Amino acid sequence: MVASHTLMMQAVWLCVFLFLSLVHGHPASPAFDLSSIKRDNTGSFAIGASRNPNVQRSGPRAKLRALAKYGLPIPDSLAEFASDKGLIGDVAAYNQTEDREWLSPVSIGTPGQEVLLDFDTGSSDLWVFSSETKTRGAINGSRQIWSPHLSSSARQVNGSRWQIMYGDGSYASGSVWKDTILLGNITIPDVIVESAVTVSRSMVTDTVLSGLLGLAYSLPSQVYPVAPTFLDVLTPVLDAPVFTVDLHWHTDGLYEFGRIDTTKYTGEMFYTPVTNNSKYWGFTFTGYNIGPSVEWLESEWAAIVDTGTTLILLQDDLVKLYYDNATDAGAAYNSTVDGYTYLCNATLPDLHMGFENGYYVTIPGKYLNYTDMAELGQPDMCYGALQSVGALPFSILGDVFLKAVYAVFDIGKGQIGLADKTLN
Ligand SMILES: *[C@@H]1O[C@H](CO)[C@@H](O)[C@H](O)[C@H]1NC(C)=O
Ligand SMILES: *[C@@H]1O[C@H](CO)[C@@H](O)[C@H](O)[C@H]1NC(C)=O
Ligand SMILES: *[C@@H]1O[C@H](CO)[C@@H](O)[C@H](O)[C@H]1NC(C)=O
Ligand SMILES: *[C@@H]1O[C@H](CO)[C@@H](O)[C@H](O)[C@H]1NC(C)=O
Ligand SMILES: *[C@@H]1O[C@H](CO)[C@@H](O)[C@H](O)[C@H]1NC(C)=O
Ligand SMILES: *[C@@H]1O[C@H](CO)[C@@H](O)[C@H](O)[C@H]1NC(C)=O
Ligand SMILES: *[C@@H]1O[C@H](CO)[C@@H](O)[C@H](O)[C@H]1NC(C)=O
Ligand SMILES: *[C@@H]1O[C@H](CO)[C@@H](O)[C@H](O)[C@H]1NC(C)=O
Ligand SMILES: *[C@@H]1O[C@H](CO)[C@@H](O)[C@H](O)[C@H]1NC(C)=O
Repeated sequence: MVASHTLMMQAVWLCVFLFLSLVHGHPASPAFDLSSIKRDNTGSFAIGASRNPNVQRSGPRAKLRALAKYGLPIPDSLAEFASDKGLIGDVAAYNQTEDREWLSPVSIGTPGQEVLLDFDTGSSDLWVFSSETKTRGAINGSRQIWSPHLSSSARQVNGSRWQIMYGDGSYASGSVWKDTILLGNITIPDVIVESAVTVSRSMVTDTVLSGLLGLAYSLPSQVYPVAPTFLDVLTPVLDAPVFTVDLHWHTDGLYEFGRIDTTKYTGEMFYTPVTNNSKYWGFTFTGYNIGPSVEWLESEWAAIVDTGTTLILLQDDLVKLYYDNATDAGAAYNSTVDGYTYLCNATLPDLHMGFENGYYVTIPGKYLNYTDMAELGQPDMCYGALQSVGALPFSILGDVFLKAVYAVFDIGKGQIGLADKTLN
């Protein structure tokens, strides 16, 4: 275990927070001309997503990260508990392959330098640890970094900066560059690459991850002055303006860009429009049910799909209803860890969420069992992957949700497609 640090310096890692875009109010774009991107290099490709073996599971930590990502208050009890237990930050060198974070190879520069990025549909920045990163310990270990001075195609965007604030006040910031990116087998010139010059201490403990690649629907990046996001420059070079996410329980996943692979799902693809004016991949569910019950319960609620969050966070009442169905499993809300816990030997019910007279997603009960609490001294108790979202007005559908569906992110038509797939 690494030493525990104070909460304020330590809380989140993969989390990009929209605070700055609210504060800045981005002015109109100056020098970037998207029409210069030619369609003579279009294509489609697949990129594997490997699970990061270098991070340890912790329910309270996963919840804390999600709260901080969306700028939600972290309850005092959770903050204190996490700090005491040294749960803040990732525990490096703990050899457990788990489904908390998937990393995909991306090549930046000429010649290409391969880095491992976390593709995050809940943020919009493409930022990497680099030869410019000054924070001590940041480029230790096996982390692959980007060195702009070793790339003949890298050009600094003078007068441009980026800064990301985290919900707990920690941050990352640095310089802004343009460089060529090789994603799958498509070369995309002049992509905005944010080089991390300063990161808070909390960000260096995961020694594998090189950075983030944001894929949010229409959220501006934290580059100032405003610059095109990665999706802005990617979309014109794809055969079709779509990407798909196919994560799996306890095994590696796949992102595909520019095409929908109809062999990867079963039944019909169900499409629902992205919420008007949504910056995220948001839509509205109209109902749910729990367990084997066939009764459809109407309830309209907003949700966003976020590959950069681990858990599923729903409105309080739905979460309570879910665990009410598992009371014989000793399920109860524990305020110390700010989450529902239950006996590990219990069977959790399946959760169905969907659309009236339409498609519904079934999340198997076993997917909703996030982890045991042995490291917290409660080896018989487990922490659920379904937790409450608190004050946020929309639910967050993280990786646990994506493991149960084949998901299409249709940039062109502004819609999200969901379909069943063979589950393991
Ligand atoms: C790019 O890769 C995809 C598979 O990911 C393949 O179908 C396609 O033919 C490749 N295109 C080129 C130009 O190599
Ligand atoms: C980590 O686990 C993998 C797979 O179980 C194993 O091959 C590898 O040797 C382990 N590494 C260490 C350092 O224990
Ligand atoms: C990084 O390396 C330095 C020097 O070898 C060492 O003092 C430091 O503890 C390392 N930091 C981490 C986070 O591993
Ligand atoms: C940015 O500034 C550096 C140093 O002043 C200069 O060498 C470089 O050409 C400038 N880059 C651009 C794109 O103007
Ligand atoms: C978006 O707005 C249009 C026009 O007001 C409306 O027809 C459409 O149903 C709205 N879509 C969603 C997903 O709310
Ligand atoms: C269980 O879930 C159903 C919805 O499927 C709900 O109607 C019921 O109140 C829940 N609680 C219990 C104790 O069954
Ligand atoms: C809540 O969780 C903490 C930490 O795992 C544990 O020490 C405590 O006993 C739990 N409280 C209840 C009421 O189960
Ligand atoms: C589940 O575990 C608890 C505590 O460890 C034990 O009391 C209970 O009998 C177990 N239930 C089953 C069905 O094994
Ligand atoms: C939940 O996961 C833990 C390990 O994280 C495992 O020990 C337990 O058996 C699982 N319980 C269920 C009901 O799947």
